[in-house]
Amino acid sequence: MIQKVHHVGIAVRDLEAALRFYRDLLGLHVHKQSVVEEQGVKAALLTVGESEIELLEPTGPDTPVGRFLARRGEGLHHICFQTDDVARELEELKAKGVELVDQRPRQGLAGLICFLHPRAHHGVLVELAQPVEGP
Ligand code: CO
Repeated sequence: MIQKVHHVGIAVRDLEAALRFYRDLLGLHVHKQSVVEEQGVKAALLTVGESEIELLEPTGPDTPVGRFLARRGEGLHHICFQTDDVARELEELKAKGVELVDQRPRQGLAGLICFLHPRAHHGVLVELAQPVEGP
């Protein structure tokens, strides 16, 4: 079941410059920051109440976010819905014929995640995430 908007992903050219706005001027708390090599991003997650902002700087031009920046410039990259069972959600959507990016869930910054194809969502890349349990 889709439970809430977990985070909004924003593609940025320079993570540090973006943090100077989101962290330093807006005052949002950075609760996770890391380089996810297999996705080609330097990412930071900032807390906004029960939701998050995910800032994504590509590690190079030939990465999904690098290509996105070249094509569309900085801005909204994806929206992520939280689900209690990402594998079941993915199977149900696949059965309904929804176009997918990932055929099965994988480990991401927000937990167990998968991406659906933007063609299926009127131009918006959609991520589903099942946050990892625990402290
Ligand atoms: Co995301």
